[in-house]
Amino acid sequence: MPETDYQAIFRGALDRLHGERRYRVFADIERIAGRFPAARWRQPDGSSREITVWCSNDYLGMGQHPAVVQALTETARRCGVGAGGTRNIAGTTSPLVDLERELADLHGKEAALVFTSGYVSNQTGIATLARLIPHCLILSDAYNHNSMIEGVRQSGCEKKIFRHNDLGHLEALLREAGARPKLIVFESVYSMDGDVAPIGAICDLAERYGALTYIDEVHAVGLYGPRGAGIAERDGVMHRLDVIEGTLAKGFGVVGGYISGTAAMCDAVRSHAPGFIFTTALPPAIAAAASASIRHLKRSGAEREAHQRQAARTKAALAAAGLPVRATETHIVPVMVGDAERCKAAADRLLERHGIYIQPINYPTVPRGTERLRITPTPFHDEAQIARLTEALLEVWQALDLPRAGTPVVEAAA
Ligand SMILES: Cc1ncc(COP(=O)(O)O)c(C=O)c1O
Repeated sequence: MPETDYQAIFRGALDRLHGERRYRVFADIERIAGRFPAARWRQPDGSSREITVWCSNDYLGMGQHPAVVQALTETARRCGVGAGGTRNIAGTTSPLVDLERELADLHGKEAALVFTSGYVSNQTGIATLARLIPHCLILSDAYNHNSMIEGVRQSGCEKKIFRHNDLGHLEALLREAGARPKLIVFESVYSMDGDVAPIGAICDLAERYGALTYIDEVHAVGLYGPRGAGIAERDGVMHRLDVIEGTLAKGFGVVGGYISGTAAMCDAVRSHAPGFIFTTALPPAIAAAASASIRHLKRSGAEREAHQRQAARTKAALAAAGLPVRATETHIVPVMVGDAERCKAAADRLLERHGIYIQPINYPTVPRGTERLRITPTPFHDEAQIARLTEALLEVWQALDLPRAGTPVVEAAA
């Protein structure tokens, strides 16, 4: 193949993904406001049919909340659609400034800074912070999200990976690093396994060894804590964290990401982060919608209670049916399959036969051998839907002869 046969190069890259059973197929769906989690699935032949979504990260259904939709539409009518520029050049709109105040208040911090996504906030936030600190060593949890890994990589700083949630390993690395500046980056809720970091104990170590802490609460904001500020709020340790990062796209149901912390830290990132500076700001209507969602969830715990209740009921129903549900302490319900091809086949059968949409989760999102269906119940999944999900999964497990509860999961080397 000639070196300049560009199309052949692209086809080869796709062939490799197919060969490794890693080629991703996106389901084309139209969400239906007011009827979440129902959606219309547009099939490859162009026809469409109604399905139930069981894998959305709009965890509380806030994407269709009347106050959120109203804030968005009213602001779009008043201000138009786009932001009209970068933050520096005409894009710092009043709803965006108000949103940053709302977020700082949510986390009890001096300031907050909004980015176009949670991904960008991690990538450019971590890279910029670490680059600003001379001789910084980054200590990063082994299960951190790709956006954090990219931030660490782009900082150009030395890094050490500590075993997932392993305080002993983290302490050994902190001790070994001595007096130099150190940044610990980790998540609160790990989104694929649904486990939680020992935040207070990590803060103890950070204080003992003089390290800065950066936590990703993407899968927890809106969902945990008396005002929806996340696991750190729930655990009473929010004030001990230096940087709290979150998303506006999951629990809050809109789009965008942010960091919060001291005024000096946010101002330094605002002034140096390429991913903040050189891109058009979030539109004012989106900012207003996010603020409406945050304000609502600060006051109301009803969504959080219903969310936890329905997640617990889903886990109990699947476990009682003998399905291999991984035990989690959070709202995330992983059902283990352990093979990429069979995981995809299970998801296809659920969608085509049962009108149930659960995206298969394969490598590299999870280690090979731990492929799974990641189920995310919401307050809007009722008892009848949980019963239908259980029956559908049982039919699929039977038809494809998938592993039942108690089958050991063997992680293959990635
Ligand atoms: C742990 C974690 N951090 C950050 C992100 C990125 O957030 P966003 O979807 O707002 O870009 C994700 C996305 O799924 C995530 O799982």
